[in-house]
Amino acid sequence: MSPYTIIYAIIAYKLLATLILTWWTQRGSAKWKLRLKTFTANHDGKVIAGENKDKLLFIAVPSSGAGRAMDIYDECIEELQMREENFTIEVYVTKRSDDIKNLVVSKDVSEYYGIIVLGGDSSITELIQAPLRRNNGKRMYPPILHLPGGSTNLLSKELHGNKSHKEILGQFSTEKVKRAGVI
Ligand SMILES: *[C@@H]1O[C@H](CO)[C@@H](O)[C@H](O)[C@H]1NC(C)=O
Ligand SMILES: *[C@@H]1O[C@H](CO)[C@@H](O)[C@H](O)[C@H]1NC(C)=O
Repeated sequence: MSPYTIIYAIIAYKLLATLILTWWTQRGSAKWKLRLKTFTANHDGKVIAGENKDKLLFIAVPSSGAGRAMDIYDECIEELQMREENFTIEVYVTKRSDDIKNLVVSKDVSEYYGIIVLGGDSSITELIQAPLRRNNGKRMYPPILHLPGGSTNLLSKELHGNKSHKEILGQFSTEKVKRAGVI
């Protein structure tokens, strides 16, 4: 075997490895995009009717926590439906990065009893900061409950300790909702 054969073999091997890696990465991102698209198609704009005329706006940020928000979505909705208030739930799924900001600025969210956000810390920051800046710090919308659907969820830990999304949903109090901006 000549030295060239070995060199060619190495080059061919490297080329093949690169091709496989590229294919694998593209396949992964296509799968991720499809997952986001399917989730949005299944849940965006859904109204889950309850006996209560008070409505909750449930904002889901599907890309949060590398898919964690999508993983726990059903559990969150089920837990909410089990509450005695039996709220009517309107679901909004974000599609782009600044969707939350646009939503709270363009939509009249004052009609809701509360806004629930299933997402990461940045979703909450976006929700709180955009309209506050425009309204000289005055509250423009009802209290917000953050469900830990991101990877770090520092805000949720700060507010609720290490409670899971189920515990948080099972325990928030209507008294606190009346007083708070973020609960
Ligand atoms: C909430 O309301 C819906 C629609 O009226 C009803 O089907 C459901 O049983 C109620 N759930 C609870 C927990 O009361
Ligand atoms: C928080 O909860 C998770 C899962 O319930 C657990 O694995 C983790 O050890 C807890 N962390 C602390 C600081 O209690």
